[in-house]
Order: sequence, then C-alpha cells, then structure tokens
Amino acid sequence: MKEIDDLRRELREYERHYYVLNQPLISDKEFDLKMKELERLEAEHPECFDPDSPTQKVGSDLQKGFRQVRHRYPMLSLGNTYSEGEVREWYIKTKKMVGRDFDVVCELKFDGTSISITYENGKLTQAVTRGDGRVGDDVTRNVEYIGNVPKRLEGDYPENVEFRGEVLMPWESFERLNREREDEEEQLFANPRNAASGTLKLLDSREVGRRGLQTYIYYTLGEELPMATHYGQLEKTKEWGMNVSGDMKLCHNLDEVMAYIAHWDVARKELPVATDGIVLKVNDFDLQEELGFTAKNPRWAIAYKFQPEQALTKLTEVTYQVGRTGVVTPVANLEAVQLSGTMVRRATLHNEDFIKSLDLHEGDMVYVEKGGEIIPKITAVEKSQRNENAKRVGFIENCPECGTRLVRNEEEAAWYCPNETGCAPQIKGRMEHFVSRKAMNIDGIGSEIIADMYETGIATNIEALYSLTYNDLRMLDGFADKSARNVLAELAKSREVPYERVLFAIGIRNVGEVIAKKLAARFNSIDQLRNATIEEMTEVADIGEKIARNVVAFFADPKNVTMIEALRRYGLKMEGEGERKAVSDKLAGMTIVVSGKFELHSREEYKEMIEANGGKNGSSVSAKTTYILAGSDMGPAKREKAEKLGVKIIDENDFARLLKENED
Ligand code: IVH
Repeated sequence: MKEIDDLRRELREYERHYYVLNQPLISDKEFDLKMKELERLEAEHPECFDPDSPTQKVGSDLQKGFRQVRHRYPMLSLGNTYSEGEVREWYIKTKKMVGRDFDVVCELKFDGTSISITYENGKLTQAVTRGDGRVGDDVTRNVEYIGNVPKRLEGDYPENVEFRGEVLMPWESFERLNREREDEEEQLFANPRNAASGTLKLLDSREVGRRGLQTYIYYTLGEELPMATHYGQLEKTKEWGMNVSGDMKLCHNLDEVMAYIAHWDVARKELPVATDGIVLKVNDFDLQEELGFTAKNPRWAIAYKFQPEQALTKLTEVTYQVGRTGVVTPVANLEAVQLSGTMVRRATLHNEDFIKSLDLHEGDMVYVEKGGEIIPKITAVEKSQRNENAKRVGFIENCPECGTRLVRNEEEAAWYCPNETGCAPQIKGRMEHFVSRKAMNIDGIGSEIIADMYETGIATNIEALYSLTYNDLRMLDGFADKSARNVLAELAKSREVPYERVLFAIGIRNVGEVIAKKLAARFNSIDQLRNATIEEMTEVADIGEKIARNVVAFFADPKNVTMIEALRRYGLKMEGEGERKAVSDKLAGMTIVVSGKFELHSREEYKEMIEANGGKNGSSVSAKTTYILAGSDMGPAKREKAEKLGVKIIDENDFARLLKENED
C-alpha cells in the first residue's frame, strides 16, 4: 500500500509540473513507465483500488484566472505503448471483441496540448482546455487568435458540433520564441509542447497571436454528425474549414498499420511540428461505441509512442556560468557523443533542484536526449554504472567569477550572485544587452569589444559608453579611424531609440522586450515607473508580483538611479512620445474593479476604457473602490466583500450608461 501511495503521490507531482507549470521534471517515457508500474501494482492489489489514482484520471491542467466550463463529453486520454508487439496485441484483442475484420485510421500523435472547440450555427462559441477531463479552462479568446482556427465554418455543418484537436507551436515559432527568451534571459521552454500550453494560458491574447500557434483537429463530436466513420468525418471536418492533418491513413489490416508506423518514425523528423507517436483508431463509429471506454481511455484507440533518441555518455565536470542578471547556471560537460546528427559535449543542468532530482554524482554515466530540442538534456543517470565512491554533485556556494556568496530567493529555483556592480560577467553582460539589436541597437560594438573596453578600463559600465572619445576608441584593438567614427555615430543615433526600448535595455531583472512595452504603455516615463507601486504594476496584464518587485528593487538601488540620471543627461529617451492622453475624464477620481467574464468587451478592453476615461483600475475590492464592473461569473467572495463595504456592483450596460450619462 505504501509503495502504491508513494507512486501515486510522485505521479501527481509530475503531472502538476507537466500540465500546470509546463516544466516537466522527467521525460515522457520515464513518466509512462512509472504509470505502467502503478497500473501493475494496482492490478496485483485490487484491495488498494482508488478512483482518485492517477491511473483512473487524466492529469489536470486547470489554472487560476480562467473560467471553468464543463465538457459536454468528457475529454479522455489514450492508452499508450512503446512496443510494436503491444500494438499487435491491441489489434488482435480488438478483432476478437468486435468479431470481424475492421479498418483502422492511423494518425500522427501531435505533441502539443489538447483543445475542444465548439461551433454553434457555424460560429465559434467556445474553446476549452482538457482540464481534469470533466471541466476545462475557457481559453476562447486566446484560441480566436490562432491563425488556422476559423471563426465561422463553411458548407453543410450541423447546428452544434465540437472539434477535438491539438494546439501546437511549430518548430520555427518555437525556436524564434526561445531565441527571444534567451536574449532576454528568460527561462527557455524545454520543448514546443510546453511552449504551446504555456502560450494558450497567457492572459494577453495579442501575445498569443504573435507566437504563431496552430491547431490540428483529430476528432469530431456531435449529435447530428453526417458521417458514420471517423475517417469520413475527418474529411468532412476538413471541408467545413477546420485544419486536419493530411497525413492520416485508412488502413485495412495490421501490415498496413505497421508500415505506417515504420514510415513515420523516420519521416516525422521533416515535419514542421512536433509529434511523439502514432494514434490508431477504429474507423466505424458503431464499433467505437460497442468497444466503449475504460476509466480514462477509449478501448477503440491506442497510441504508439516513438522511442526518444538517446545516448549514454560520461559526465566529466560540472561548470557554472554567470549571466548578466547574476543567475548562476550549472552546465554538465560531457564526453563527446553523437546524437541526432550532432556532436553533444555540454548539456544544461538548469538549477540546483534539477541536479538533485537527477541525484547526479561525479563521473556518472548519463542519458542525453535531444528530441529536436535546441539544448540537449540529461534525462537520467545510469546508476548501475556508478563508481561506489562517487561524490554527489553539490551546488557551489560562491560566485565562480568574483567569489561573492551566492543567494537564492525562496520562491525561485536559481542561485545568483548579488554583486551586480562588481562581478565582471554581470557588468559585461549588461553592457552587451544594452547595445544589442533589440535594445539600443548600437552597431559595431559586440561582446569582444565590450570585453576589451572593460578590461582596458575605458568603459566599465553602461553610462561610460556615452563618454567614450575618438581617442579612447582608437586605443582598442582593431579600431581604425572609420570604425571609431562609426561607433560614435551609432551612439549618437541611439538617443532616438524609443523609451520602451531604453526601458528594456537598462536590464531590469525579468523585464524582457514584451514586458518593457507593457510597462511603458502604462507608465509613460521612467519617473512614473519609478513611483509606481507593486499594486499598480500588477494591474497590467501579464505583470506579476515577481516582476513588479524586481522593478521596485531596481529603482531602490542608488547605482541604478545614478545610471539613469547619467543616461538622461546624455539625451536618452526617458519618456514615451505621445503621452497616452485620456479620451475623457468622465471617470476621474473613480477606482473601478473589473471582474468576471463579459459579453460586449473583453476584460482587458474594459480596463483600457477605464484608464482612457481618466479612471483607475483597482485590483481588489476595498473601501476605496467606487464600482465593481461585474461579468457573468464574479466570485461569491468578491460579491460578499462588496456588499459588506457597500461598494456598488454594476454590469456592462450600467458601465456604458455611466460613460454616456457623464457625457450628457
Ligand atoms: S485522439 C479519446 N488523436 O494525445 C481520445 N489524440 O495521450 C482522444 N493527441 O489528449 C484523443 N494527437 O491531446 C488523438 N491524432 C490524435 C492525437 C491525439 C495528439 C493527444 C491528445 C490526447 C493525448 C493522449
């Protein structure tokens, strides 16, 4: 019982990291093996049955901040296997159950996150995540921003129809997104699946649109479907305008199924999106109904998963890199090994927790996988080959560059060096970031030149770049007359760089390009931002406490204030061009809390309207709140609090009237 209990707890934790946090702790294969182990133990001990066991339920992706919607038909998972033998067994067993030959539709198993999209009278009305299989998160607004999801169906569609499919981030968009995140020292997504499901749960739908998600539909549900087979129905679904993969195949026997598997195991590497296996489905809807479901899987379908490409190699050393924000990243140095066509010598170890979860020891033999991911990853340690005297890999306590004692914030996984102004890679890193293309875009100064400037002492901080003279530059290696003049011209030109990019360039921890834009849109000058409270900042979509606290900490450091004052004197833009003028001052002096789901405008639009009309957005109900603008599903706690404090609750129509009334 204890073993079963521990395994259930462990699997639930893996599921939470995978589905909610989008940061898997172990590989899919390890997870699947542990799940199989639990299934085996539970079968051996029926007295331990528990309907809440992870073997009986699908992993939940439910998150705060979304309205929950009940699925009309439960959203299940698929039984899976890594063995062709088990695919054969499934086929034979199914044949026995239906008592005759049957057709199988083979499809690619897309590696993204599942979605249910409902159309009523041809109009997209709702998009919901799998959630816990019974209720999911309402992400309709975000799905509306996915390019290949039509707002309206075409042709002879039924009145009510629900499509199930996978939301994916194509490799190209994934790599672009990760490059951007790397530039901004934001945590990278481990794979396109995590990127897709993280993106689908963003609160800023425009950002969702920018990230280039795609949807592939693989199942259609409804009371009045025109077709009697899965294959026929998918063809119809395509006619109605939904995106269905052209790579599915109707197979009439097991040989055809096996040929499909063999073909796609190789050919999938050329696809624009990630796949992790093949799905086999019984074609006839009648037979599907006859076969039915287990607690969490249909009996009429099975997934065959591809083996991830893997190599075993030796860990030679763990080294540590210090980034521009001081974050210390452990790196595994490996004996060179060939993997998916490239030579692998290093793999990131992310942070201390990751090293611990691997239970990494010095000189361990480790499995590395790429699976198309940019950075090779250590997925497991081969403990059977461990030297018995091997020491556990710990984490360094002092900065490898400047010797300062490292610190770690409670809720963060990273250790960092707090010596911002004295630790060389941090200073050089900040200068590199400052001149980089997306920041101040100062051409002609790259990382080597920064290193040179720093080491010769002609510029040892950002503001010093603007006091560089022609003679200073000529002293640098390889700087002729022309390159020195160019750099001076570039520096002069950078005075025209808009405020939002200056804000990004000064390198506030966790303030990347997108966040800088959002802050700049809300706080029109650096002085306004400096005076902003945490509460005011977190009212902006996608700005959480962590970012807000970093902004406050940045301005609390006198050295940063000195830098900003110096940059201001050198003529850099410290405020936005057109101050966002209020459209009116009808709501001046009012603080309005917007809560719930709305029909006429989105929550974001209401917030913008409030500001544009001179009002303030409140984040929580207090005695200072003038009104609560409540949508259809405002929580009972808020309502109760409002009543207690005597705050008036208004709906969308009242709000429209409020704007109009004041006009009259
Ligand atoms: S059919 C009732 N077909 O895999 C089962 N699923 O591991 C409906 N997936 O939750 C699923 N490609 O998100 C099906 N061609 C495909 C698929 C597919 C990817 C995902 C889906 C599902 C998961 C199960």
